[in-house]
Amino acid sequence: MVVVGGGECGARAAFALREAGWNGPLTLVGAEAVPPYERPPLSKSMMTGPHASAPATICDAEMLRNGGIDFIAGTTATDIDRDNHEVVLAHGRRIAYRRLLVATGATARPLPIPGAAADGVRYLRSHSDALALRDRLRPGARIGVIGGGFIGLELAASATLRGCAVTVVELAPRLMSRGTTPQIAAVVAARHERAGVDVRCGTGVARLERRDGATLLGLTTGETLLCDTVVAGIGAVPETALAHKAGLAVDNGVRVDTRLTTSDPDVFAAGDCCSWPHPLYGGRRIRLESWRNARDQGGAAARNMLGADEPFATVPWFWSDQYDLTLHIAGLPDAATTEVVRRRHDGVEIRFGLGPDGRLLTASAIGTESAAARDIRLAELLIARRATPHPTTLADPTVSLKALLRQEPH
Ligand code: NAI
Repeated sequence: MVVVGGGECGARAAFALREAGWNGPLTLVGAEAVPPYERPPLSKSMMTGPHASAPATICDAEMLRNGGIDFIAGTTATDIDRDNHEVVLAHGRRIAYRRLLVATGATARPLPIPGAAADGVRYLRSHSDALALRDRLRPGARIGVIGGGFIGLELAASATLRGCAVTVVELAPRLMSRGTTPQIAAVVAARHERAGVDVRCGTGVARLERRDGATLLGLTTGETLLCDTVVAGIGAVPETALAHKAGLAVDNGVRVDTRLTTSDPDVFAAGDCCSWPHPLYGGRRIRLESWRNARDQGGAAARNMLGADEPFATVPWFWSDQYDLTLHIAGLPDAATTEVVRRRHDGVEIRFGLGPDGRLLTASAIGTESAAARDIRLAELLIARRATPHPTTLADPTVSLKALLRQEPH
């Protein structure tokens, strides 16, 4: 068994292969020089903690050794020789596989402005990116964040907490247009503004220029912005080069079926790099960029590599921490046609989205710390059971979601 990609998904898959009973040779190939680590802290505690910290490892060298996992670090796979069932590594070494998992993840989308890299635009994807950026978040530093999505806003919150003066430039008319409802985005925008962030939606960057050690951003509104540091968080691109070169089908990510099998039955793909037809959403082909999806798909792919025949139908789930707020989203908000709001007595609002047939498809909430976590977890179970709760009951905070769940058949 060979796993290409040493991130959350690949690492979880490697251990899941052992848990599912594989006791033959197992190789994990990672492009980064360090053992697999958690990415969620990179934009949060890594930025706000008192000291620069080492990566939060998912598994260290000893755990890998104990798991009998041959971890090849700092190496990329350059080819899949499907005829001979071999993966070719950058320095020419070949590793034979019976089953292969492509868990290559995604990379930061580069800013489509010529010369942006030369002009010092930074990205945040790896631990080393985070270390370099952290160093620049000094009190009073002017930080320009391009993109008001997950990375941009978590970073804006962290930089503000470090005393920086932050401007967020978002092309779309509102923040977080990928995967959140307008109401939640409005709460997030208000929180950032209260913290002193200058949030500019409907604004792009037309040009960049180095000026006296700083970067001048020319905005599409005609204004200019002088920044000590510019970070772009304008989305992620699935890493499909390896799959594409090997002739595997690619369709907004490596194309897999519900069993996470690619167009080659001995090659699987999972995590940020793949798209699959989601059974809970009418077989709609989706690709998720989410920590939990990477973990869950890694596990499911591992079991399927060993013949489990397990369809992947887990409810999508995201979270984001910004200041004292935690945002939770279960399901796909853009799939819903009707919104139902449950206003809890403690002031927390849970927003549900139903489909045209009355099925619960999504739930999201924002609140301090984990105020909404339990309700979103229950909503997730309702979504998984394809529940069709009555909108009046769903909106009624005196009827617990647990009670609604009890009424649903398993
Ligand atoms: P994103 O897709 O969440 O947000 C990108 C934002 O940039 C969008 O709002 C988009 O409208 C905007 N944009 C696109 N082009 C632009 C341009 N030229 N100028 C200005 N704005 C532009 O992607 P993001 O934030 O870059 O995140 C990258 C990856 O990291 C994703 O995979 C994301 O899921 C992951 N991530 C997840 C977190 C979480 O789940 N809490 C936290 C941080 C990152």
